[in-house]
Amino acid sequence: MSLDRRSLLQNCAAFSVYALVAELAFARPRTSNLQARRWLAAQNDLADLLSAGKMRPSDWHREVNELSEQVDLESLAFELRRARIRDAGAPFGHDPQKRYVTVLGEDGLPLKLGYGLALFDFGPNSVITPHAHRYMASAHMVIDGRVRVRTFDRVRDDEGFLVIRPTQDVVAEPGHSAAMTSTTDNVHWFAPRSKRAMTIDVIIDGLDKGKSRYLIEPVDPLRGRRLADGTIRAPLVSFEQSMELYSAES
Ligand SMILES: [Fe+2]
Repeated sequence: MSLDRRSLLQNCAAFSVYALVAELAFARPRTSNLQARRWLAAQNDLADLLSAGKMRPSDWHREVNELSEQVDLESLAFELRRARIRDAGAPFGHDPQKRYVTVLGEDGLPLKLGYGLALFDFGPNSVITPHAHRYMASAHMVIDGRVRVRTFDRVRDDEGFLVIRPTQDVVAEPGHSAAMTSTTDNVHWFAPRSKRAMTIDVIIDGLDKGKSRYLIEPVDPLRGRRLADGTIRAPLVSFEQSMELYSAES
């Protein structure tokens, strides 16, 4: 067992990245060699541009997903092992456990980043139910296990409904990033397809000055009405209804 692997196992009490190093070493092509520190810094450049209105959301969306194709996941696991990680409270319903990540620099002090980082730790029954967003952008990258990722564009708002268009339905493996912005894939939905799974989420909020930092709006695509143009007129629902309606198997 390598030193990294052993150290990672020691961190299991804090969070379960136990499978990461062994699996990730084989999971990625050799071209995915962008070291985690450079990935974190590049994310910072992109976040700053998006926050300053100097980059279109669609460009941020594409570049963040491309960046995640390049990151060396083993080095990312190393950074996570030495990061400060704290629970974001008890999960609501069968949400995955969310944990905030503070990355530490060489000096052991927190790195100042223009974005938030969070881990989502899925058990077999966890699900991030389908929801839309306002005033923010994010990108969930799978780093452990397999996750069914479904995304939808938000075509228009319609008094208690959202008209949405399916854009992606894949079982994602480590290294797959699903970004969301106001213009692209604004609705997303994540369900595990392995006993355990984990994503790391890059979060940029407060994008609309004078508004809340973010707004999450659960939506129900499964009970929506299919329209002739391929879109779905899906009802907005409460968080409680969303938890009742959606499970990991939905
Ligand atoms: Fe979300």
